[in-house]
Amino acid sequence: MIKENIAKALSDQVNAEYYSAYLYLIMSSYADRAGFKGIANWLFIQAQEEMAHGTHIYQHILERGGVPVFADIKKPEIALDSIQDVFKKVVAHEEYVTSLINNIATMALKENDHASYNFIMWYVNEQIEEEASANEILNKISFIGDNLSLLYNLDLELSARVFTDPFPAVAD
Ligand code: FEO
Repeated sequence: MIKENIAKALSDQVNAEYYSAYLYLIMSSYADRAGFKGIANWLFIQAQEEMAHGTHIYQHILERGGVPVFADIKKPEIALDSIQDVFKKVVAHEEYVTSLINNIATMALKENDHASYNFIMWYVNEQIEEEASANEILNKISFIGDNLSLLYNLDLELSARVFTDPFPAVAD
């Protein structure tokens, strides 16, 4: 059975993942209103992934006999002034999420909870990809600068992203 403090830390992470989803929806709506439907699509799928991340942690708490702790999901207070600004903030946010995940991994080891450590390692690896993909887009935007036609090419590229459930159900 999972310890109460680990269940609480994981519950806080469920909340953080749902907060991330909210944050990316705000960013997606900004891109949509600015006319960048492909970038809006990328951010919308990012939000869907965050909800899947949160739900998977919630299920893990239950599976281990823990009690999920529910709290208010804070409204992201964020001002966006350009597409470049959006992705600067995506990178910064993912770096922050990485620090949260690392703290859980450290705590799980300290508590000798190898099941939770093993579980959270998926997220440690996922964060490498999350940071890398956000940084890749930010770098492209930096190269593009003020060239609107190149930005529209990037928009087209990001319109191709589709949601793939990171935790597909395994058939019995
Ligand atoms: Fe759930 Fe973007 O990390």
